[in-house]
Amino acid sequence: MDNDVVNEIRKNVDIVDVISKYVPLVARGKNFFGVCPFHDDHSPSMSVSKDKQIYKCFSCGATGNVFNFIQDYENVSFPEALKILADMAGISVKGLDVKSSKRDVHKSLYDIYDVSSKLYINNLNTNYGLGAKEYLHKRGITDELIREFQIGLSLKEKDLLTRLLVKKGFSNKDMVDSGLIVKSDYGYSDIYSNRIMFPLYDVSGKIVGYSGRIYNGEDTSKYINTRETAIFKKGEILYNYHRAKESCRKKNVVIITEGFMDVIRCYSVGVTNVVAAMGTAFTKEHVMLIRKLARDVILCFDGDKAGAHATFSCINLLLEYNITPKVVRLEENLDPDEYILKYGKDKFIEKIDNPINIMDFKLSYLKANKDLTSSVDMSSYVNSVIDELKKIDDDILREISLKKISEESKLDINFLRDKLDSSTEVKEIKPIIVKNDSIDRYDKAQMNLIYYMLNNDEVVHMYDSSVNYMPNDVYRKLATYISCFYKENGFVNVSDLMTYLSNYDGMREAVSKIIGLNLKDEYTKSEINDYIFVIKDYNIKNEISRLEVEMRNETSNEKKIGIAQRIVELKKMEQERSYD
Ligand code: UTP
Ligand code: MN
Repeated sequence: MDNDVVNEIRKNVDIVDVISKYVPLVARGKNFFGVCPFHDDHSPSMSVSKDKQIYKCFSCGATGNVFNFIQDYENVSFPEALKILADMAGISVKGLDVKSSKRDVHKSLYDIYDVSSKLYINNLNTNYGLGAKEYLHKRGITDELIREFQIGLSLKEKDLLTRLLVKKGFSNKDMVDSGLIVKSDYGYSDIYSNRIMFPLYDVSGKIVGYSGRIYNGEDTSKYINTRETAIFKKGEILYNYHRAKESCRKKNVVIITEGFMDVIRCYSVGVTNVVAAMGTAFTKEHVMLIRKLARDVILCFDGDKAGAHATFSCINLLLEYNITPKVVRLEENLDPDEYILKYGKDKFIEKIDNPINIMDFKLSYLKANKDLTSSVDMSSYVNSVIDELKKIDDDILREISLKKISEESKLDINFLRDKLDSSTEVKEIKPIIVKNDSIDRYDKAQMNLIYYMLNNDEVVHMYDSSVNYMPNDVYRKLATYISCFYKENGFVNVSDLMTYLSNYDGMREAVSKIIGLNLKDEYTKSEINDYIFVIKDYNIKNEISRLEVEMRNETSNEKKIGIAQRIVELKKMEQERSYD
């Protein structure tokens, strides 16, 4: 992508205008503040700087320029974000290609999924599909739902898809890489046969896998999911994400179920803000996706014991990322699909509208299988409730729950509160990206130097001509990028630099952290030289200890002497420097 085009678009949009389209912002001093959309934020912790054209969340660390915001909020690739912003700015950009690189690289895999989907959908509509259709209709999956969720059928023949793909010219490698074809001693054949095919989508709605269900009882495993491939990572996709996106954001609620059949059933009764994980435990990536969808999260897992267990683990994962979900439990071990079929839409919606808080869920979960008339069970119950209370920081909820266990256990509430307080450590919100390590003298010198490099050409020159090497990996890379950016553009602009840095892990966050230092605007050359001095000092010390190790491992005496001489020189240099 042409750098000028990118910077042109950025110059024509104001980050404050753009972000206000998504999040209400209020002006406070020089900056604007809003509720951060990238974590479960209740007080405005995201600041947006009009001057610098960047945003930063003080709570979760999310940061970047306007492109980064759109990419992360809309979950789109960089070119797609460009297009969205070009449209907003009313700039028409010739040749703006909205294909993401992943799509280019794995184009044949996506194409294979297109071909397979057409084949499977077609199969279901032939005479061979009558049995499967009947099965679906019996489950209340109407033709309309079949169309919407692009449900298809793999036939009994084990090479229908293979032959079609060969005919269309796909390579054996791509066929196998797609996860739909397997190679055996007898040649290539389809993975799926005689199953109802539910396509699985990535976050942008492209088909990247299937879950194939038995429907006439001829196999033992109910569902077969596509194995992980270059384009299908179970831990990174949520079923129905792309369809649910809009309605989740409108309602600001996302409902999470265990099975994708539950999602389809909910959808059929007009509850559209629902997603499901693909039969795997929740991952950090899932949490990141969920927090992009809505502020409120409702867990509506299966009503059985396994569902309660999954609810418990999912709550604790979400809490680690500062999201406090709510819980719906369904009676009679029913899953949402079965519940809706049995009790109807209205009863289900009533349940969803009245979720319970996580502590009430945990109280009953921890009580199950316990005999609270036994003091052994009661004591272990109270202790485990207190352990769970440590994980939440909603003090009202803590107080209410304390009162409940105090009544149940007949223990004095003050005693319980003391016990909780004495064992509560300050809860640390897991930063998504950066952690604030303690800053030592060397870090400080590097950070301060970069701070001034960001705003002053002169300092970039001073760095280039004298240091050229920072001890810390991240700062070294950052300084190099700043220097390159300067050489390419003739100036340094923090927001444009963010675009430049977007492909490098952790760099944006480092810039943001350094900007956050808020040092005074003016500097003197001697201050800059002090930073450079400290950094060089470190480099010398570092080199000395590296050489000392080298010397210890060296067997040749002659070489040992050579190394020793260099060490002596460096030590002398170090001493002379300290007399300056
Ligand atoms: P469930 O067994 O709860 O599925 O598994 P379900 O939604 O009730 O399906 P139906 O109603 O029997 O058709 C929940 C999820 O676990 C995964 C699937 O992703 C499913 O949606 N799963 C389940 C598998 O991958 N394989 C299996 O054999 C079973
Ligand atoms: Mn079910």
